[in-house]
Amino acid sequence: MILVLDFGSQYNQLITRRIREFGVYSELHSHRLTAEEIKEMNPKGIILSGGPHSVYAENSFRCDEKIFDLGIPILGICYGMQLMTQQYGGKVERSPKREYGRAEINVQENARLFKGTPDSQIVWMSHSDKILEVPVSFNTDATNVSTPVAAMSNEEKQLYGVQFHPEVSNSEYGNQLLKNFVYDICNCAGDWTMANFIEMEMEKIRNEVGDRNVLCALSGGVDSSVVAALIHKAIGDQLTCIFVDHGLLRKHEGDTVMETFRDQFHMNIIKVDAQDRFLNKLKGVTDPEQKRKIIGNEFIYVFDDEAAKLENMDFLAQGTLYTDIVESGTETAQTIKSHHNVGGLPEDMEFKLIEPLDTLFKDEVRALGTELGLPDEIVWRQPFPGPGLGIRVLGEVTPEKLEIVRESDAILREEIRKAGLEKDIWQYFTVLPDIRSVGVMGDARTYDYAVGIRAVTSIDGMTSDWARIPWEVLEKISTRIVNEVDHVNRILYDVTSKPPATIEWE
Ligand code: XMP
Repeated sequence: MILVLDFGSQYNQLITRRIREFGVYSELHSHRLTAEEIKEMNPKGIILSGGPHSVYAENSFRCDEKIFDLGIPILGICYGMQLMTQQYGGKVERSPKREYGRAEINVQENARLFKGTPDSQIVWMSHSDKILEVPVSFNTDATNVSTPVAAMSNEEKQLYGVQFHPEVSNSEYGNQLLKNFVYDICNCAGDWTMANFIEMEMEKIRNEVGDRNVLCALSGGVDSSVVAALIHKAIGDQLTCIFVDHGLLRKHEGDTVMETFRDQFHMNIIKVDAQDRFLNKLKGVTDPEQKRKIIGNEFIYVFDDEAAKLENMDFLAQGTLYTDIVESGTETAQTIKSHHNVGGLPEDMEFKLIEPLDTLFKDEVRALGTELGLPDEIVWRQPFPGPGLGIRVLGEVTPEKLEIVRESDAILREEIRKAGLEKDIWQYFTVLPDIRSVGVMGDARTYDYAVGIRAVTSIDGMTSDWARIPWEVLEKISTRIVNEVDHVNRILYDVTSKPPATIEWE
């Protein structure tokens, strides 16, 4: 295992992930771990991440100095390298000016960390302070015009430092450098797989849960599905899932969830048919924010009602991902947006949380789902908002309007799949704006709804571009929706990016 100590860099999430890609297990932990705790974890190597602070700042993050004496190879990246320099008596220059972006470095011959890479290479810099003098016992391994020490090492102690970020893809040979560290310097075998992860997590879950019981709110989304499958594999019937059908699901969605988890995986699953409850609450409500609030709150009430009927539930399982944690702010990273899994359950529910995916990224969770035997339909499900179709029917939500958006969405999904575009488009769905227009069908005048098609490409949903669906595919979709879905006589294609628009319409 390679242990990454977190000093708050926005890139440190990438380090663990790159290393896992090399077949070496890696975890990110707080820089507050003591040398003793680290020794217990028995890592083969330690990486000190970058961070936003200056090592001279009053409350800058520090690590236990004794970790340098554990005899475990250490790689310091950016801030991590500066800490190492300070520790061994080198000179770090305080600089208010940030060096950011591509830079060319010149590498010394025989620098072990750079084995197999050219003498001159492009790296990605993002720092203000820099090292002026390496500590006495260290060698300078790479230089750059504005950064006299771009890399350094002390072979005897197996300490290495780089001023740039090898984990970022803009560093041309960054991967090779990290591989040199984990394979060559730390002697990792590179044989870790998702199957190992499953074994490890199952053991952790069994140890934690013992003979007690776990409750899981299953939405059918990728994260909650994978978490349920993993926990079920570990403790079988000690897991109970609650699946709330709020009537705002897409076509066949409820059936797929039940078929997969009840019929195929034989899980304890309670399906709550709460369509009427939600629709009643939504009657006459047109404001999007109010709709979101009603749906979110009602979900909690329903879940709460069902959970109260069960006895001896000690744990609540959640599909929290690493990115959720980072975006919600950790002790080192800044808050970007708050994520609420299960929409913020009441505090008096007194569950202990189990979050076995909290070290993983979305694509790793997908790989894990596949390894657990979940069908592609679930593993490759596109993101679907908690309030579901409730925010895709613009204005008041009625059963008739839900039917239109549900049927048109099913046609869109079918045609996208037939055209083989499923994995190229990040998210695609139909919306029902609250407008009607005049049309002509079979010589008669119609006055019916317009359906909007929204399809976007994106990495993480924070920004997006509209997807260029080929005209002929759009034509087929348009024709089918108008012909097959009652009360639709016009199709619109949304050609706006985010920003300025958002992906959803409400
Ligand atoms: P927007 O519309 O903000 O959406 O550009 C970005 C991504 O987030 C999804 N989304 C939600 N997901 N609960 C969720 O779990 C929500 O309330 C919610 N609202 C939007 C949206 O589908 C898109 O993928």
